[in-house]
Amino acid sequence: MILRLVAALLLCFPATLPASSQTPALPPAQSVGWRTGAEAAAIEKRVAALLKTMTLEEKVGQLHLSGRGDGFDIGQIKAGRMGGVMNFVVPQEVREVQEAVRQSRLKIPLIIGLDAVHGFSTYFPLPLGQAASWNPGLIEQAAFWTGREARAAGVNWTFAPMVDMSRDPRWGRVLEGAGEDVHLASVVAAARTRGYQRGGVAATVKHFVGYGAGEGGRDYNSTWIPTSQLHDLHLPPFKASFDAGSMTAMAAFNALNGMPATANRAMLTDLLRGRWGFRGFVVSDFGSITELRLHGIAKDDAEAARKALIAGIDMDMMGNVYHRHLADEVKAGRVPMKALDEAVRRVLRVKFHLGLFDRPDVDVAAAPKLMQTEEARRVARQIAREGVILLKNDADTLPIAAGTNTVAVIGAMAVPEDERVWTDPAGLGRRMVQPLPDALREQLPQGTTVTYEPAFTKACGTAFADKDAALKAAAAADLVVAMLGEDCEFMGEGASRTDLGLPGVQQELLEGLVATGKPVVLVLATGRPLVLTWAAKHVAAIVQTFHGGTEGRAAIADVLAGKVNPAGRTPMSFPRSVGQIPVYYDHLPTGRPQQVRQRYESIYMDEANEPLFPFGFGLSYSRFTYAGARVDRPRVGLDGSVTISVEVTNAGSRDGDEVVQLYVRQPVASRSRPVRELKDFQRITLKAGETRTVAFRLPVRALGFHDDAGVSRVDPGLFEVFLGGSSLAERATSFEVTRN
Ligand code: BGC
Repeated sequence: MILRLVAALLLCFPATLPASSQTPALPPAQSVGWRTGAEAAAIEKRVAALLKTMTLEEKVGQLHLSGRGDGFDIGQIKAGRMGGVMNFVVPQEVREVQEAVRQSRLKIPLIIGLDAVHGFSTYFPLPLGQAASWNPGLIEQAAFWTGREARAAGVNWTFAPMVDMSRDPRWGRVLEGAGEDVHLASVVAAARTRGYQRGGVAATVKHFVGYGAGEGGRDYNSTWIPTSQLHDLHLPPFKASFDAGSMTAMAAFNALNGMPATANRAMLTDLLRGRWGFRGFVVSDFGSITELRLHGIAKDDAEAARKALIAGIDMDMMGNVYHRHLADEVKAGRVPMKALDEAVRRVLRVKFHLGLFDRPDVDVAAAPKLMQTEEARRVARQIAREGVILLKNDADTLPIAAGTNTVAVIGAMAVPEDERVWTDPAGLGRRMVQPLPDALREQLPQGTTVTYEPAFTKACGTAFADKDAALKAAAAADLVVAMLGEDCEFMGEGASRTDLGLPGVQQELLEGLVATGKPVVLVLATGRPLVLTWAAKHVAAIVQTFHGGTEGRAAIADVLAGKVNPAGRTPMSFPRSVGQIPVYYDHLPTGRPQQVRQRYESIYMDEANEPLFPFGFGLSYSRFTYAGARVDRPRVGLDGSVTISVEVTNAGSRDGDEVVQLYVRQPVASRSRPVRELKDFQRITLKAGETRTVAFRLPVRALGFHDDAGVSRVDPGLFEVFLGGSSLAERATSFEVTRN
């Protein structure tokens, strides 16, 4: 009871400075994952024994994943012809399908899937916003609570993490990933995988592979990725997730180098099972097996089923294609029984390792009590705070100065309509989201007046409700806080854009607000980096968030009011214009680098090369300095490692967090290497005036890259080291890798 009270107090009176990067220990829960040793061997035996007792129809049934809604046939469960269900989130309904299983001959439990991505009942920031915290421990916690709440409602499988690499903010799904950098993305992929599975749901690493590189940033579009880049950039986050124990994977919608991912045997079987030894199962994406016809590699659904199964797709999500055709394909000898058995074996194996055969049904009465607990809310508040990125802060506009009489909050985004981007069919995600004006009233000193005008009819700002009232409120205030951005309509799956400005009439409003002459703080909640070139010139401060979830607006108020010192960092570069895309920090050098910006250099005639805000960037209310960078040895062999250290000082007058980033560059190698690459980072908390030595151990194998055959190599030679608080970090030291 006392603990609950303390927790409640902590929630009401958040700690003052800084956005501490401490991560509370995970509470015990029904964690799931691969069993090992004798237990794993016993499972293989049980799977083999069960497989022997199954009819052809029951086997095909295990590969059929169907969803709640129109056309759902509970009779298929009773007949043993459905292996999994999705989008069942109401505990009572989960109980009904579990009861149906008991009426089937073999009573094989269902795997119950959902896109529990950044929350189930408690919402955390969008994955891109979580990555902006650069705090893997906290990201793991967010995934843990997501998994735990989902599990309490009866879900045992989440369709996350999405680890698709993308350098293209036109693509609406960048919000589900961790940004443009392969190291950060791999660390985040592992953290999320661990978190979900500790929370009690099997992870699904997706979308295998190359989905984030769709041509033109258009969703579902074809991708062309050279083998070396596939291995250097796109595959490592998947590998990191498997190494962290991901039990399932989802194939992508797109064609990779001309072969649709759903029928790509080289990826699904040769690489995934052969080279990587993955033992779990692969699910198709939503209806993607039948889409093989539209890709032009199958004349009908029967052929599509055959090609997908033989390539290595074990479970058919929502396509009904395996359900309708696979048994006939096996009977006709077009699909070998051995291939079918192998797919069923993988599904059953996961179900056993998940413990589904030994677990009781969902506890309908207990479920609601496990939603939005104080602990989950506290993690949500912390990660939302840590993900806030301060992009601009002219003349210390922020934090809001004591003595500011009136703050005008403008924009319908400031008051939540809905925090959901992904499914929350139980509708629990709507509760208790604090509007920004209320949070500011709570945080700012007594006597500060906070006014609010929505300006738009809806958060997405496509039409004005009352523009004049908004401008009047701004003119009457000392400081304007405009909360603008994208909402669900403009981001996420199927929401590719060619114009990355503020949607609708929001830019018009912003210009009106600036014209009042009052200092404008632009607070953004978006699903991607927008083009902020105009705003960066004209507003006084910019605060970037990627929809902070249940505690998002409260966390913004913490930062605006100065209770929290911001330290979030951009996980993606912010372009100056759409024409620069793709713009990312770890590009290759050219033979005609930008030097004096003249013709025949690799430049644009009408725009700078650099992004508006680079990768890894974010301001603080403090200032951090770096000194004394050193490597523990000047030379190291191919099997060795170096320790790189640097002294970081908080030279400001407030406590705060710094994200210390380590980049390397190999100036001369057997092939052209990026101008720099992130190799490690640490988010640390420093008191005002404090100095700390931060050390990184860097194994030489982390300096490697892949050749055109996908073989990894490290070239001996000089490596330059850059240390600092963003990808603009200065060159600090160097070391040499020797052959031995
Ligand atoms: C998405 C997947 C998602 C699935 C189920 C698809 O459209 O691409 O990422 O898991 O739907 O909701």
